[in-house]
Amino acid sequence: MTGKLNRRQFTRICSSMIAGAVTGATLPATGHTRTAYTSTRLLDDDKQALKPGSLEVGVPYLFFYPYVTTPCFLIDLGTAATASPLNDSAGNEYEWRGGVGPNGSIVAYSAICSHKMSHPAKEISFINYRHEPISFISHEGKNVERNGVISCCSERSVYDPRQGAKVLAGPAPQPLAAIELQIDEGTGELFATASYGGDMYDKFFDKFGFRAAIEHRLDDPRQQTGKTAAVHKVTEYSSQTIKC
Ligand code: FES
Repeated sequence: MTGKLNRRQFTRICSSMIAGAVTGATLPATGHTRTAYTSTRLLDDDKQALKPGSLEVGVPYLFFYPYVTTPCFLIDLGTAATASPLNDSAGNEYEWRGGVGPNGSIVAYSAICSHKMSHPAKEISFINYRHEPISFISHEGKNVERNGVISCCSERSVYDPRQGAKVLAGPAPQPLAAIELQIDEGTGELFATASYGGDMYDKFFDKFGFRAAIEHRLDDPRQQTGKTAAVHKVTEYSSQTIKC
């Protein structure tokens, strides 16, 4: 590498160093699809550091990462979700790391649908986690009933959060981008440290950046998330959550 580091490169290197202070339940994600961002401590409604036991099982939470306008789901699935191999729409292979926490059941994903980028907004969300059983048509044309899926009601894509948000149904071309979670060994606090898999951030800013800046009252929707991020239940952020 020659010349000066630009700000983004510098941030990535610093983030990698900071991320070394916390540990996950499994090996880091591999492959070139992983991008380290700021190591961000997740906070609860009282602005206290979030710990795995503070999440209600089966309830979808929302936080904004790796940018202050890009929403992510945080979910305690209740039982362990184990690592699995995946591909993005460009054919890049990557290993989803699996859940974290004492039960290996806590997962996080970008909440931007990989089809046409439906995402939770303040007025409404067409994409959400469904802990209860829902019905959908699989890629094989079968009517399937399953619980514990992420469902996008825009065009009915369904993702499996137990398997790295693999696509189970609908037109989505790739899994949701995974958010790497790590738990500080000393304090038990939960951090978001990276994004991996096929992400939609650049396309999101092209299409929704202007509206996102207004919603978040920012000049720059591409501002990266800082040292902390507030976590809320999806139903407390979006006035309406559409179910299908
Ligand atoms: S935007 Fe989600 S299925 Fe089309």
